[in-house]
Amino acid sequence: MTTEELRQAYIEFFKLNQHKQISGFSLIPENDPTVLFTTAGMHPLVPYLMGAEHPCGKRLCNWQKCVRTGDIDEVGDSQHLTFFEMLGNWSLGDYFKDQAIEMSYQFLTDSSWLGINPDKLFITLFQGDQVAPRDEQSAELWIKQGIEQGHIFFLGKKDNWWGPAGKTGPCGPDTEMFYDTGLPFCSANCQPGCPCGKYVEIWNDVFMEYDKQSNGSYAELSQKNVDTGMGLERTSATLNGYSSVYQIDKFQPIIEVIEKLSKRKFMENKEDTVSMRVIADHIRAAVFIMGDPLGVPPSNLDQGYIVRRLIRRAMRHAMQLEINDQLGDSLTDLIIELNPVYPELSERRNFILESFREEEQRFKKTLNRGLTELKKILPQVLQSKQKVISGRVAFKLYDTYGFPLEMTEELAKEHGVEVDQEGFTRAFEKHQEKSRSGSELRFKGGLADASEQTRKLHTATHLLHQALRMVLGEHVQQKGSNITPERLRFDFSHPQPMTKQEIEQVEKIVNEVIQKDLPISCDLMTLDEAENKGAIALFVDKYSQQVKVYSVGDFSKEVCGGPHVDRTGELGRFSIIKEQSSSAGVRRIKAILSSE
Ligand code: ALA
Repeated sequence: MTTEELRQAYIEFFKLNQHKQISGFSLIPENDPTVLFTTAGMHPLVPYLMGAEHPCGKRLCNWQKCVRTGDIDEVGDSQHLTFFEMLGNWSLGDYFKDQAIEMSYQFLTDSSWLGINPDKLFITLFQGDQVAPRDEQSAELWIKQGIEQGHIFFLGKKDNWWGPAGKTGPCGPDTEMFYDTGLPFCSANCQPGCPCGKYVEIWNDVFMEYDKQSNGSYAELSQKNVDTGMGLERTSATLNGYSSVYQIDKFQPIIEVIEKLSKRKFMENKEDTVSMRVIADHIRAAVFIMGDPLGVPPSNLDQGYIVRRLIRRAMRHAMQLEINDQLGDSLTDLIIELNPVYPELSERRNFILESFREEEQRFKKTLNRGLTELKKILPQVLQSKQKVISGRVAFKLYDTYGFPLEMTEELAKEHGVEVDQEGFTRAFEKHQEKSRSGSELRFKGGLADASEQTRKLHTATHLLHQALRMVLGEHVQQKGSNITPERLRFDFSHPQPMTKQEIEQVEKIVNEVIQKDLPISCDLMTLDEAENKGAIALFVDKYSQQVKVYSVGDFSKEVCGGPHVDRTGELGRFSIIKEQSSSAGVRRIKAILSSE
């Protein structure tokens, strides 16, 4: 059975059982600040589990794309994925344990459906606590269906309780279905729930009858619901007798490309196999996150930071396999092709490819410098007693070389040393305070992030401002500014669109100043003094006694909170990528810095 056939069979089965198919939701939850990604199919259904009426009725089914970032560091083993798909069916106050278990058993074992031998199935159930009783009722229902008593295990809350996505909300005990791969027991305690890989969890039926309150207590929900989730990739692997999800049809072609690029074989040695799995999983996840209708490019924030981590970790493993090709270019089209049920991917193809290219280029540039830096530090750390990389060093690797903390930790681990996480957090906060106190002197749009790239773009903003005044006239005034690690955005007063010549002239002036490698200096003075010196002074806090004036050689002088780079030569090449209207009498420019 192919993975697509499994998807169709599931939907067909539940439709035959009076469920209405609904579409899956975006990977990025709307209006929900508590989580970065949709982690389960129930997530967008919370209001209906709480009692709201669903327009499609009380029985629903669908497939849902999910991202679980808690598992990122476990990726590399045979079963964990960052991005995966879940097949789900729901009862919104309709059937409960009895029919849920009956349907699960039928779909798994009946020869017209998955036809799994019941001898291979193992079940876990909630063992009970002060809130909910031991789930003997479900055990009886499983036995009635044909599961042997010896295949049923009772476990605690960690294993058999589905908690709400946020701090409050619908939850309850669950029953999980495992497939025995036939591998030997890893120890005397090996049983379903053991992570060794012998028992693969393929499906989970949650009996949602509780509502967790903000004070930590549990109330009864107004209705008893069933929420189920079947892992599409794992079940597909199981049905095909594979010991790992990476062997299924959704992954095999990806692995083959990685084999070709690396000129190595999958499953030949453990290290290479792990690297290949990490690349396959992470690039696939990145494609899906960027390719979501609400998708985001790599950045230092929220979902964007996860994409960045995924791409960078994949790139590092690609280096270990001596792959020189661009991963995004090599795999994006294939991943789109393998997932026709998600047309949004092909619609956003160019955005995905461009975002990959920019990120891979950006990271390549600094990666080697960072690795050299790390190699320099390692001998000292290895000789020291604690064998810990200081938070300051880890922060420098983050800020200057773009190493996500998790990556520094992983590299450190490979050398048997640790990273001072708290020290990193302290360095990070100190640095945020610095950029915040800068902004208190205040002037222009938030510079919450003061990474190297952001500082460069900030300096470029000053050069752009001055160049615009030179080319268009003194009426040009900054109306707004916004900087992300990728680009600067600058709004300014000007009555009509800029001509092509004007844009080119501005770019030329800025690039000449960059080439001159002018120093940037900062002086504290009163506002009067600043104005007397001819500094541009907009958005100045009237109540501050002193202001900071940043001068770029004798090219520009501006009251500003900083921070900036030390010399213009650090900026690279400046290009305007867009000039458009922002509002009446205000134009908007987007510009980037690139390495050549
Ligand atoms: N919400 C349950 C899970 O994801 C079904 O396992």
